[in-house]
Amino acid sequence: MRVCSVVGARPQFVKAFPVSRRLRDDHEEVLIHTGQHYDEELSGVFFDELDIPEPEYNLGVGSGGHAAQTAEMMRLLDEVIEEESPDAVLVYGDTNSTLAAALVAAKREPALAHVEAGLRSGKWSMPEEVNRVLTDHCSDLLLTPGENAAETLRGDSVRGEVVVTGDVMYDAVLAVRDRALDESTPLPLPDLRPDEYVLATVHRAANTDDPERLAGVLDGLAGIDSPVVLPLHPRTEAALDEHGLYDRAAAELRLVDPVGYVEFLRLLSDASRVATDSGGVQKEAFYLDTPCVTLRDETEWVETVDSGWNVLVGSDPDRIARALTDRSALPPKPELYGGGDAAARTVAALEATLGEGSSE
Ligand code: UD1
Ligand code: UDP
Repeated sequence: MRVCSVVGARPQFVKAFPVSRRLRDDHEEVLIHTGQHYDEELSGVFFDELDIPEPEYNLGVGSGGHAAQTAEMMRLLDEVIEEESPDAVLVYGDTNSTLAAALVAAKREPALAHVEAGLRSGKWSMPEEVNRVLTDHCSDLLLTPGENAAETLRGDSVRGEVVVTGDVMYDAVLAVRDRALDESTPLPLPDLRPDEYVLATVHRAANTDDPERLAGVLDGLAGIDSPVVLPLHPRTEAALDEHGLYDRAAAELRLVDPVGYVEFLRLLSDASRVATDSGGVQKEAFYLDTPCVTLRDETEWVETVDSGWNVLVGSDPDRIARALTDRSALPPKPELYGGGDAAARTVAALEATLGEGSSE
C-alpha cells in the first residue's frame, strides 16, 4: 500500500517516527511536512536525531492565524494528494496540520487514518479539541491509545472503524530510552543533579495568551526552592515578552532553548517532577517514572491522573508549588496505553482496512 503521512508540528515528528519506520518495512510512504513548525529546534533536530527520512514534500506553510494557516495547508496538501494518489492519508494528533490533511482527504479518494483518535478535553474553546473532533468524524480508520478513547468514539457515533492500538509515543520512548538515559548524553545545563530539579514546559494557548494565567504559572514555578529548567517554546517566549514577564522568568527560572527529543527524555527522566501543559509530556513522564504536575484544568490523558502519577493544578501558584514539592509515596504504576507495539498495530490496522496488497 501507499500512504501519505502528514506531519507539521514537534509532537508529530515524535509520533510518526516509529510508525514510518514500520510502514517502510513493507509499504511505500510519502512523508509530507506542512512546515507548521520550521525552527531547527522544533523541527530539523527531530529528523536528524530520529533518523526520519527527508520529507518528500515540505509545504513551508509557516505560522499564521488558524484560518489562514489551515487554509494554506489545505490548498497545498490538496495538490500533493491529487499528484500522489495514495491509498491512505495518515494523520497524527490534533494540530492544524492534522485537521487540514483530514479535510483534504475526506473530500478525495484516499482513506483517512487518525492516530490518537478519540482524545477529548471536553473544552471546545481549545483549538486542539476542534481539530480532534472534526478529524475523528472525517476518518475511516480511528486508531486509539486505549479503551477509553475507543469508548468516546463509539459514543460520538463516528462513521469509521475504531481500533485500539496503544500509544505510539510509548513506542517512541522505548526506541530512544537507552540512548537518552546514557550518561554521555549531553544536557543543556551540565550542573543539574538528578532528582534535584524540576523540568517545565509551557506552550498551550490557554496559558500563553492569558497574562493572568501565565503570571500564575510563573509564580508557581518560581515559588519552589529547587531549580526549574524551562526549555522555552517560541510562542511562550513571545508571550512572556508581550506581557512584561520575560525578565522575571529569566531571573527566577533556568531558561533554555527547546531541546531535542533525546536530551528532553534525559532531562525528564532525571527530574524530580515535571510541570507541563503539553499532551505528550504527560505520557512520557508516566513512561519514565517522573511524577507529572499538569498546568491545566483538564486533560485528555485522564488515565495518568487516575493512576496517581499526574495531578491537575491549573495556573494557581500555590497548587503548583505544593504539587511540585509533594514527596508522598506514589502508587504502583499500572500499564496504560498498551505495551509499546502501537506502531506495528497501526500498520496492521491499515493493512486490514486497505487490503494488504493495495498498490504495493
Ligand atoms: C502547535 C499546535 C499545538 C501543539 C504544539 C506543539 C495548533 C493549533 N497548535 O502549537 O496543538 O501542542 O504545536 O508544540 O496546531 N513559532 C516559531 N517557530 C516555529 C513555529 C512556531 O517561532 O518553528 C512561533 C510563531 O510565532 C507562531 C507561534 O510560535 O505564531 C505558534 O506556533 P503554532 O504552530 O501556530 O502553534 P503552537 O503554539 O506551536
Ligand atoms: N519535546 C522536546 N523538546 C522540548 C520539549 C518537548 O523534544 O524542549 C518533545 C517531548 O518529548 C514530546 C513532544 O516534544 O515528545 C511534545 O511536544 P509539545 O509539548 O510541543 O506538544 P503537545 O504534546 O502538547 O502537542
